[in-house]
Amino acid sequence: MRPLKQLIEEKPATVTVTPDDTVFAALTLLAQFDIGALLVLDQGRLVGLFSERDYARKIILKGKASRDTLVREIMSEKLSCVTLSQTVQECMALMTERHVRHLPVINDKDEVLGILSIGDLVKETISDQKFTIEQLVHYIQN
Ligand SMILES: NC(=O)c1ccc[n+]([C@@H]2O[C@H](COP(=O)([O-])OP(=O)(O)OC[C@H]3O[C@@H](n4cnc5c(N)ncnc54)[C@H](O)[C@@H]3O)[C@@H](O)[C@H]2O)c1
Repeated sequence: MRPLKQLIEEKPATVTVTPDDTVFAALTLLAQFDIGALLVLDQGRLVGLFSERDYARKIILKGKASRDTLVREIMSEKLSCVTLSQTVQECMALMTERHVRHLPVINDKDEVLGILSIGDLVKETISDQKFTIEQLVHYIQN
């Protein structure tokens, strides 16, 4: 499995919002970039994560309006983050344990390096397994 550094380097820039943006503005970004979560940065510091799940549970079900609610009111603040020293397997285990689908990737100064989704990790795992199967088939046939 490739190191997280390589996965992060291949990805486009991380899409972020500030805590004072409206939920409507955040939803617009999710749609524009076709993604399911945004990192919430306050003057460059990671303070939360806003996801489709936050919107579904904290806006729709509570009967709130996305144009009148700020991201800070509904963002998830207890974050599960990873660093580049961790592996894809460790990230998958963390997602399973914490019931999250996105992990911010940070460095030792808590600066954001990127974000990994469950889809990224599944894609990497499948690609790795495909490679192993191809190697085994090659070994058997030769
Ligand atoms: N993971 C992928 O490579 C990928 C790419 C395109 C579409 N999809 C489809 O989207 C659906 C959900 O995918 P998912 O579980 O990966 O979640 P997702 O929709 O949140 O993520 C899709 C891709 O966008 C990236 N992404 C997410 N939030 C981001 C952000 N704030 N800034 C920058 N990039 C961000 C993810 O890392 C991933 O590569 C699935 O149906 C999947 O098939 C996945």
